[in-house]
Amino acid sequence: MWLLLAGIVLLVCDADATPVGGRTVPDFGKMYHVKGILSLPRTEIKEPFEAWYDLEGNRSRIDYRNGKVHTYLIGNDLDYGAIYKITPVTTETEIQATKFFQLNGTKENPIRPQAALPDLQDFEFEKMENYEGVLCEVWKKVTQAGHKKNTYRLWVTRPEGIDSPATPHRFEMVGYNTLLESHNDKYTIDYSDFSPQTESDIFIPPGGNWKTNIQ
Ligand SMILES: *[C@@H]1O[C@H](CO)[C@@H](O)[C@H](O)[C@H]1NC(C)=O
Ligand SMILES: *[C@@H]1O[C@H](CO)[C@@H](O)[C@H](O)[C@H]1NC(C)=O
Repeated sequence: MWLLLAGIVLLVCDADATPVGGRTVPDFGKMYHVKGILSLPRTEIKEPFEAWYDLEGNRSRIDYRNGKVHTYLIGNDLDYGAIYKITPVTTETEIQATKFFQLNGTKENPIRPQAALPDLQDFEFEKMENYEGVLCEVWKKVTQAGHKKNTYRLWVTRPEGIDSPATPHRFEMVGYNTLLESHNDKYTIDYSDFSPQTESDIFIPPGGNWKTNIQ
């Protein structure tokens, strides 16, 4: 009886969170840093990346190719935001020369920050499962468009308790073609080093010879 009551009290106190079967949908907070490895098993691609996100500052950054490519998306720069990309480029005359590209947002296409973690609002709690020795909540979403059915799953923990910011462990997308009855797509992201804080300098693109003819 007291368990039931405790459950009701929890639900009442949590009126502005979104309880799903007694659990609130995991939320990663307004600011975070995370590392990940994107794997596309069919192509044997494994791409490590490092990402930063700052919702209130309207900015994000992602580094990949072993930290050689840096992409900053700054919503509050100029009138409609800007993208700054630093990348090595090999041309006929230079090998792996560091280039600085800038793309200005426009009224029609303003630049917005990009989250490195999915928004789980449409996900549902599926089960508890061990992932690499850690007991995780598994959240799932299924979409269907024509014959293409995609299943998304995210493995998370909540170190401080059920309603505190979540820590991501793994994301998986499996595409299934219901007509051909075959899997046509799959990718996974293994996350690590999640932290709900970042330094604000990390979002400031370095000085450089910025060119605005990004392709
Ligand atoms: C974020 O930046 C975009 C692009 O400039 C802008 O349209 C939007 O209003 C900004 N949002 C906030 C909360 O500042
Ligand atoms: C982008 O904005 C910068 C800074 O305002 C400006 O110097 C540059 O000419 C702009 N680029 C384009 C292609 O409009």
